[in-house]
Amino acid sequence: MRAARYHEYGGTDTLVVEQAPDPLPGPGEIRVRVTAAGVNPVDWKVRNGSVRDFLPVDLPAIPGRDAVGLVDRIGEGVSSVGIGDRVFGLGGVTGATAELAVLSAWAPAPANWSDEEAAAAGLASVTALGGLRALGQMEGLTLLIEGAAGGVGGAAVEIARALGATVIGTASERNHAYLTSLGALPVTYGAGLAERLAGLAPNGVDLALDAAASGSLADLVEIVGGPDRVVTVADHVNAQRLGVRVANAVNDSTLLAEAGAFGEQGRYVPRIEQTYPLEEIAKAHAHSERGHVQGKIVVTI
Ligand SMILES: NC(=O)c1ccc[n+]([C@@H]2O[C@H](COP(=O)([O-])OP(=O)(O)OC[C@H]3O[C@@H](n4cnc5c(N)ncnc54)[C@H](OP(=O)(O)O)[C@@H]3O)[C@@H](O)[C@H]2O)c1
Repeated sequence: MRAARYHEYGGTDTLVVEQAPDPLPGPGEIRVRVTAAGVNPVDWKVRNGSVRDFLPVDLPAIPGRDAVGLVDRIGEGVSSVGIGDRVFGLGGVTGATAELAVLSAWAPAPANWSDEEAAAAGLASVTALGGLRALGQMEGLTLLIEGAAGGVGGAAVEIARALGATVIGTASERNHAYLTSLGALPVTYGAGLAERLAGLAPNGVDLALDAAASGSLADLVEIVGGPDRVVTVADHVNAQRLGVRVANAVNDSTLLAEAGAFGEQGRYVPRIEQTYPLEEIAKAHAHSERGHVQGKIVVTI
């Protein structure tokens, strides 16, 4: 099969597109013929070696954590899916940006999502749902999302709105109209956030989800009145220091199905800033690494 790969840890110049062995699904897994794969910050953090101490990979490695495609092979013990079904989901830390990918968690891709939208939904939706669930019920509450214009933040905005929350999202000004289109009240991140929020939420903010590795966790704790009302998906170091819970993505088909159901209802539509062909995988990683993606970057296969 054709695949994006890197043979050593390093910059985007390590990425090549070449032939690689076809992967085989193990028990409980499926293989899909990939139509599109998501690009997530973890892809380039793994590729450049900065997280190798706790997320080591075998080299050469195929980048990519989530994908959409048609099921072409089914592992032992799997009965919930048939050959040719269109599913989106998650594999290992690597492996998705190739013609064939193995998934260990998946759900039917909503018919009203394009392949690009479905590819954008895997990691972002399970991370957003995990973070929101950790915060508890949302109905009638005001939720602040730090980093609301990114892949995880945008998914969290739409899903929290669907769960009945009033959502305030932080982003740079260029993304304020985008946040409004997702259903959030936009506010600029950085120094003075608490003062800016006073006008937007005169009765205060109840909960906060941090989806940006911006170092603002202590401010979020102060804004909502305690670490138990904050969850982060991005800032493990400050979370430990402040007693804030961390929600990490899990390969959970139930969460993917829940995200897909919101998709079918038109309440969660993954947004794509840019799509790249497989041959431009290095450009796709460089785009994500700049840190200001609006929605998601997707690679088509
Ligand atoms: N724990 C897990 O399992 C897990 C899973 C997925 C992701 N993550 C982590 O969660 C974070 C977000 O992931 P993602 O996929 O959503 O990333 P992303 O799509 O690359 O996020 C980019 C967004 O971050 C915003 N941003 C940049 N600087 C910011 C700041 N100082 N304050 C607030 N927002 C800022 C940008 O908004 P502007 O352009 O408006 O600046 C942009 O929209 C990453 O650190 C990622 O590694 C963790």
